Amino acid sequence: MRRSEEEVRVLREAREALLAFYFSDFVCLCGCESHRCGREDMAAKTVLITGAAGQIGYSLVPLVASGQLFGENVPVNLHLLDIEQAQGVLGGVVMEIEDGAYPLVRKVVATTSMAEACKDVDAAFLVGGFPRLAGMERKDVMAKNVGIFQSMGRSLNEHASPEIKVLVVANPANTNASILRDNAPRIPAANITAMTRLDHNRALGMLAKKTGVEGGASAVRNVIIWGNHSSTQVPDADHATVGGQPARAAVKDDAWLESEFVKTVQQRGAAVIAARKLSSAMSAANAAVDHMRSWVRGTAAGEVVSMGVFGNGQYGSPKDVCFSLPCTCAGGKWTVVEGLSVSERVAGLMKLSADELIEEKALALQCLAEMAK
Ligand code: NAD
Ligand code: LMR
Repeated sequence: MRRSEEEVRVLREAREALLAFYFSDFVCLCGCESHRCGREDMAAKTVLITGAAGQIGYSLVPLVASGQLFGENVPVNLHLLDIEQAQGVLGGVVMEIEDGAYPLVRKVVATTSMAEACKDVDAAFLVGGFPRLAGMERKDVMAKNVGIFQSMGRSLNEHASPEIKVLVVANPANTNASILRDNAPRIPAANITAMTRLDHNRALGMLAKKTGVEGGASAVRNVIIWGNHSSTQVPDADHATVGGQPARAAVKDDAWLESEFVKTVQQRGAAVIAARKLSSAMSAANAAVDHMRSWVRGTAAGEVVSMGVFGNGQYGSPKDVCFSLPCTCAGGKWTVVEGLSVSERVAGLMKLSADELIEEKALALQCLAEMAK
């Protein structure tokens, strides 16, 4: 019989506590003079955040610095990259990290050099780029951002460890990931992903709100975002559960699930821009950490998350573009969940998103060719 989610959580916590206790007794790696300082038991992990002087960077730094990615016992080195013009602001971010006196932060490198930023990085959040403004589609920022991802790909290829885990956040995220992959042949394609976790979380939040389920979004599981992080994305609740029962039974409104739910998730980024006059940042940073945490530390038993990945053509997804698929993670690797039923309606929408991704990639290559002239 499978263990319940709660049993797995309790066992995992007990295992982590035991490991922390025994390792901290024998291997204190923080460089302190005592045999056991009681806080640190693991080697530091190095995290790269590009665009660290920007909005998402500002929300992401404290999450990583406080151990929400690698865990509360794992020290972190922060590599913060931004462009020359943002150096003043980045300096302010560094001051605030110092002023936060984060117990886990070991080293902060603030730089404009991608070569320096990439060195020895375990996890990279590629946020640096231009956000869209009201009235724009995400692909409208392509001309500005694909060039950045071409050079980032080249730098990662030259200076990063092939073990690095890369999450592309800057838009158009899936196509930027494709361009990065083309320019970083040393980094395995499995280590390059794009963020659709924000859309996934938005879908969880909407189902929680619609049903009023006790426990809120934590009681909703296994929505799927298929395709592109764009207005063609396909939010799918057919395999989702709310408070343990199938989402359709909990929502009791199929028309809403197939129409308003889908459109609202697809258009949520634009709605936030219209309201804030800035694109989402707090929720984007939270989703970025959720994505990387699932990848690095594993998904819970029975949990499925949405990740933009280079798959093997599962569910008719085109190869060589980064397509959001349902995944589970274990041992630092993601795996696409196969064999799920897909309705004709969802399959039709997935095809539109796949076609858009192919078109976007062609457009990106055209932009790069024009820039090279
Ligand atoms: P922002 O303008 O506040 O910050 C972007 C930062 O990137 C700036 O500090 C800028 O100087 C820096 N930058 C520009 N070019 C760079 C380069 N070549 N190298 C390093 N840094 C560079 O924008 P933001 O709100 O933080 O959003 C960043 C990106 O994330 C945008 O493209 C936005 O559309 C995207 N985004 C994606 C998602 C998603 O779900 N995938 C969600 C929200 C935002
Ligand atoms: C989002 O989904 O909030 C981001 O991709 C920002 C945007 O342009 O919509």
